[in-house]
Amino acid sequence: MSISERLDKMDYGPAPESAAEALEWIESRGGIAGHFIDGTFGILRDDMTLNNPATGERLAGLTKGTADEVASAVKAARKAQPEWAKDGAARARVLYAIARLMQKHARLLAVMETLDNGKPIRESRDIDIPLTIRHFYYHAGMAQLMEDEMPSREAIGVCGQIVPWNFPLLMLAWKIAPALAMGNTVVLKPAEYTTLTAMIFAEICQEAGVPAGVVNIVTGDGETGQHIVDADVDKIAFTGSTAVGRRIRKTTAGSGKALTLELGGKSPYIVFDDADLDSAVEGLVDAIWFNQGQVCCAGSRLLVQESVAERFYAKLKRRMDGLRIGNPLDKCIDVGAIVDPIQLAQITKMVSENSEGETYHAACDMPEGGCYYPPTLITGLSPSAALMQEEIFGPVLCATTFRTPAEAVQLANNTRYGLAATVWTENVNLALDIAPKLVAGVVWVNATNLFDAAAPFGGVRESGFGREGGLEGLMAYTKPKAKGKALSKVEAFTGSDAGSDPIDRTAKLYIGGKQARPDGGYSKAVYSKKGEKLGDVSLANRKDIRNAVEVAQGANAWGKTTGHLRAQILYYMAENLSARASEFAKRIDAMTGKNGGKAEVEASLNALFTYAAWADKWDGAARGVPIKGIALAMKEPVGVIAALCSDDMPLLGLVKPMGASMAMGNRCILAASEPFPLAATDFIQVLETSDVPAGVVNILTGSHIELAPHIAAHNDVDAVWSQSSSSVSAVIEANSTGNLKRTWVNNGQSVEITTRDYLSAATETKTVWVPYGE
Ligand code: NAI
Repeated sequence: MSISERLDKMDYGPAPESAAEALEWIESRGGIAGHFIDGTFGILRDDMTLNNPATGERLAGLTKGTADEVASAVKAARKAQPEWAKDGAARARVLYAIARLMQKHARLLAVMETLDNGKPIRESRDIDIPLTIRHFYYHAGMAQLMEDEMPSREAIGVCGQIVPWNFPLLMLAWKIAPALAMGNTVVLKPAEYTTLTAMIFAEICQEAGVPAGVVNIVTGDGETGQHIVDADVDKIAFTGSTAVGRRIRKTTAGSGKALTLELGGKSPYIVFDDADLDSAVEGLVDAIWFNQGQVCCAGSRLLVQESVAERFYAKLKRRMDGLRIGNPLDKCIDVGAIVDPIQLAQITKMVSENSEGETYHAACDMPEGGCYYPPTLITGLSPSAALMQEEIFGPVLCATTFRTPAEAVQLANNTRYGLAATVWTENVNLALDIAPKLVAGVVWVNATNLFDAAAPFGGVRESGFGREGGLEGLMAYTKPKAKGKALSKVEAFTGSDAGSDPIDRTAKLYIGGKQARPDGGYSKAVYSKKGEKLGDVSLANRKDIRNAVEVAQGANAWGKTTGHLRAQILYYMAENLSARASEFAKRIDAMTGKNGGKAEVEASLNALFTYAAWADKWDGAARGVPIKGIALAMKEPVGVIAALCSDDMPLLGLVKPMGASMAMGNRCILAASEPFPLAATDFIQVLETSDVPAGVVNILTGSHIELAPHIAAHNDVDAVWSQSSSSVSAVIEANSTGNLKRTWVNNGQSVEITTRDYLSAATETKTVWVPYGE
């Protein structure tokens, strides 16, 4: 036999990691996973079962947390929080100790994760556990630096955290490390399929000196999760399915609870004809067969340039056939078990219901028993096929082809999700041209599924909102130190029309660069404090909102202009407002019955100058990630922002959200102060003389309560802000679930909002990873 024949016949022998230590650990803890509350393990009830998906064997029982048990965990967290928030340096020591102890127990953690979840030990050992540890180290540093770097912010309080089963310990770390670093305490629920590493983590907390009540773990299923959502917590951080995320948004609406959602995806993986195809194939192994494709940001939609498609598919199939699927504890295994029979049935059903294209299952040996699904490629799907649109959450890659870069971008963005995207090309110009055009929170260039504690991760559209990692992630675990005051409704004055001008001068709406009559044809009079009529304003309705959204969407070229140009327009606006300063001041005084008009106009000019100044300075950052290459945290506009403006500051309340939105490249729809709308309608003339492109700023007048639900429910509005004194916060949050738009509402509190708060709300962070070198 020649050497090459021998090499062809060589195969990997089994190299299993021993499960003995992990199984002993479970046994020694009574064979049941249960709550860790106030620093101690309490009740152990065998309510549910945790199985090993690779064998179907029972690993342990699981206690299902009740509402009372959740409440006692929240109580413990509440009690511990003030003390924990006091000393960042002390928190840093504790987080550091956790990281060190996790290193010490890394092997036990990796084996337990694989037993519980079915992921290959290669992944839990080399990816999940090291990234988890890195997260605690990084956030130990953040705790240390908080006081110096974030002097105006403080902990939110008690955070309810709900994590999924695909990266049980890593997701726990993504939630707990930043929360603790910023001085919050937590009540976390692991997923019902995968709870065991969280139990080891609880022991590590005891060993690391985490004070009682700072970390509480409540075990259970979705019902227990719902109890956490309903409990007296200050924030909910959720990772999981879009359906549950949506439900949580709805149930927390109006509660004042902060919310971050990291949901599903259908991330495109784009291969251009000049890509290094072999590397792109290898990348796909990490994109869609990593963790059996049970990854929210899995590169599950392959878009390959037509000219190389056949060659690429052939290479890919060859690579798929070489994947080894089987016992996840075996160190030579590439693809492990699906987490649970329910998930396996779901994947099987979705694939079997598809009748389009060509389905290829890898010709690898399938293990007997257990929850396994073969690596699968489905080519020739139309962009609208269910499998191209729906998240499968399994090792199934769906593919189609494109001809031009423009078509690639269009196909890539043809999804309700926006979590991640991958681009393969040897042409750096093409890569850096495409990356900003992709609607996604993360873009990998010539790489895929890279993560790091310093690099923000999170989505847009129905992939959720908020970022985890980096400084951006910490914003979601802090709030301004300034305390709010209860906001009472600012009422319009009443009066009589006697003696007023008989000629109709009803101020119109401003939509798409034109003054527009309201669709409903209704108007209302505005009176001074003394009851004199000052004018009439239009009452906008749902149709006017639709018109405004349509033109605002059409004005998306604004987002592609330079910060320099946007600054020029804002300065010009200030110049034009300044020329009419006394007229505006008088109008404000007449409407409000006070004499703050002059100061408000001055403050508005100042705001315009401030946002003009920031237009070309609110930069992204290059993050220090441990790879050879860069991770750019880029700032992008959110899109179309609708703002219900503050009622008591008729001009300043309009100029601030407008200035911030415009400066950052957004288009805005502003619902003017309800009781004092005439400063906004006068401002239309300033807009008309300031070179603002049509559709970039739109002004509506009318009742906030009537406008709010329609604005919030519109699926082409990307964010809704409210500083209104009407009770609209709950309505806005509850109606925002359609496209899961970002909401930023005052919850009936008047809080001082800083320029940075506005700029943060007006931008999304996109993290672009570009590895380079050999
Ligand atoms: P899920 O969203 O139901 O579960 C995730 C977590 O939420 C678990 O801890 C669960 O107990 C909890 N949960 C469930 N219902 C809840 C409720 N009403 N209130 C509060 N917490 C609740 O996801 P599931 O059913 O495990 O998987 C279904 C599909 O969701 C998957 O096929 C996949 O498409 C997607 N998914 C996405 C994940 C991601 O990372 N984006 C992770 C897990 C699932």
